[in-house]
Amino acid sequence: MRASGFPKIMYGGDYNPEQFPRDIWDEDMRLFQMAGIDIATLNVFSWSLNQPDENTYRFDWLDDMMDKLHANGVRVCLGTSTAAHPAWMARKYPDVLTVTGDGKKRKYGRRHNSCPSSPTFRHYAGIMAGKLAERYKDHPALLLWHVNNEIGIRCHCDNCEQAFRQWLKRRYGSLEKLNQAWYTKFWGHTFYDWEEIVIPSGLSEGLSGGNSDQTAFQGITLDFFRFNSDSWLECYLIEYRAIKEIIPDAIVTTNFQGNGTYKPLDYFKWAPYLDIAALDIYPENHTPESYMALRYDLMRGIKDGAPFMLMEQSPSVINWKSVNPMKRPGVMRIRSYQAISRGAESIMFFQLRRSLGAYEKFHGAVIDHAGHENTRVFRECAQLGSELKELGSLLLHSQTRSRIGILFDWENWWAVELGGGPSAYMKYLDQIQKYYDALYVNHYSVDLLHVNSDFDAYDILLAPMLYMVKPGLAEKLEKYVENGGTWVTTFYSGIVNESDLVTPGGYPGELRKLLGIWVEEIDAMFPDQRNTMLMQQKLGPLEDAYECGLVCEVVHPEGADTMAVFGSDFYKGSPALTRNRYGKGVAWYAATDPSREFMEIWLKQLCDSKGIEPIAAAPPGIEVTCREKGGSRFTFIMNHSDERLSIHTGEQEQKELLTGISVQGEVQLEPKQVMILHSHGAAN
Ligand code: GLA
Ligand code: ZN
Repeated sequence: MRASGFPKIMYGGDYNPEQFPRDIWDEDMRLFQMAGIDIATLNVFSWSLNQPDENTYRFDWLDDMMDKLHANGVRVCLGTSTAAHPAWMARKYPDVLTVTGDGKKRKYGRRHNSCPSSPTFRHYAGIMAGKLAERYKDHPALLLWHVNNEIGIRCHCDNCEQAFRQWLKRRYGSLEKLNQAWYTKFWGHTFYDWEEIVIPSGLSEGLSGGNSDQTAFQGITLDFFRFNSDSWLECYLIEYRAIKEIIPDAIVTTNFQGNGTYKPLDYFKWAPYLDIAALDIYPENHTPESYMALRYDLMRGIKDGAPFMLMEQSPSVINWKSVNPMKRPGVMRIRSYQAISRGAESIMFFQLRRSLGAYEKFHGAVIDHAGHENTRVFRECAQLGSELKELGSLLLHSQTRSRIGILFDWENWWAVELGGGPSAYMKYLDQIQKYYDALYVNHYSVDLLHVNSDFDAYDILLAPMLYMVKPGLAEKLEKYVENGGTWVTTFYSGIVNESDLVTPGGYPGELRKLLGIWVEEIDAMFPDQRNTMLMQQKLGPLEDAYECGLVCEVVHPEGADTMAVFGSDFYKGSPALTRNRYGKGVAWYAATDPSREFMEIWLKQLCDSKGIEPIAAAPPGIEVTCREKGGSRFTFIMNHSDERLSIHTGEQEQKELLTGISVQGEVQLEPKQVMILHSHGAAN
């Protein structure tokens, strides 16, 4: 597993000094020093500055800034500046401009506006990355690379259409195979020539209005999504390789958007090409902590447990919602520690100094328009900066250990939500989050895994809504359970193959043997409708009945035990929850969406049966996580609530790293207080 290569938890963020006169630069250096800032992301949106016309490159401002940062002890996360193409480029080479899902060719403007298939974009982006690498390869400030920015726009232009056809040729080899995979006999859509294939858009479909990415053929849409994710990965790799050619051991990454769960890009597929995963996170004040927790666990999961970067967050407000409240005192700090507690080795902001004009002038920043250090936000940033300095390298490379894994698969996510199924209310992320939350609330440590990950280290594996079963997965799961694993899945699983073609012979298709059931029908419920689950077998402290909703499936056991049945409707008495013993393990199936209360107790039962202990017992409002390294164990205790709460820390005396005080037994935490307890002699 690759370490981050950082000397400490890096602290800083996006810095756009090109927007300010140079006398401000020196003032910034002073303020960075005060705030403990030791990393600045430069050059994210400076393409037009660096390349004012086709043949001119100039980096004088960047040279000066790199030197200045170095002189002030600040390392650089160097952007490649390709996140917004220059105006001259769009005018001269309109192929860089994207086409929307309703077929409109965009004009110049905004950022993240380049077509991933544009030869111009690819050519000049590669040149720019190479020039930057050549110029700064020996610069002492350079720490890592940030390619482009929040990559992922979908384009529907003619170049993309051509590239899509090429991608399909590579994937299928023959039109016969493509027609089969896309089920084109439906509505008479057989293709006889690759040139007949059109890129999905509202011009031919308009399934979700005019501006559409989708067709009525889920197989086509799925391939378009795969193609788009791959096209952007290719663009990323052009820059990545240009850098690596000159600096083979460069640390190269890009910042994942959508809080790490950005639907259009399959980040698991990108992971091998990221030297460290990095995400931007923009929760709202009311966003539950478990929402971020899941996403941090996912960022750790995409690189098999390696540390990741929190690349961008706001120190306080954002500016892009209709209402943008401030982060309350202490919230930025505690949420930063939350990221660290789950594997982040950088805490970075968008942005270090607030712009004076244009779209983001009201976005939060470490240095506000007032321009000095006497602000609440600056003080809070400076406090965290000094704490991170104090922590030094102590927490680096520590690992999270989990015996519970949750499968997460982008392609399955796309497929589940492409429509035409029993209910548009079935949302993949919601289900993943719901199962995650049921474990989170009891402080279990969980890893997010890919279907290709190694399952063996996990005692319990959850795979909610495993609608798409990729080749070899069913056998892999069978082996996992046979060898003693506990596997949990739900309704709407085992339905299709990777082309979204139904596996014939009865649901859950390839998973039928392992689950020991046949699902005959799927009933969808309106959001306010409920059925009940009546427990048939004593399962720990579970009561006799629980509510359920969303979907109810009509299940016939084929060897599985019926653990609960539906309480009403014509399928009353048929299984709502089954358990199949298979080899040395068990495979569970929830044929409906149970209440949260049920899930918490049920999953706790499963953990108990496997001897999996929560990290700690803690009241609601307190989050507890644990990281280990060598013989050291770091327990993070975070009181996210607005009340004073207490927790039992065990009889062993432990050092609290933020205060240096030793603690033992029952301790009290003030609202938003964080403790990091350090003990030696890690458990097992
Ligand atoms: C993301 C982008 C930044 C900025 C912020 C605003 O982090 O990468 O450039 O636009 O969002 O929240
Ligand atoms: Zn395009």
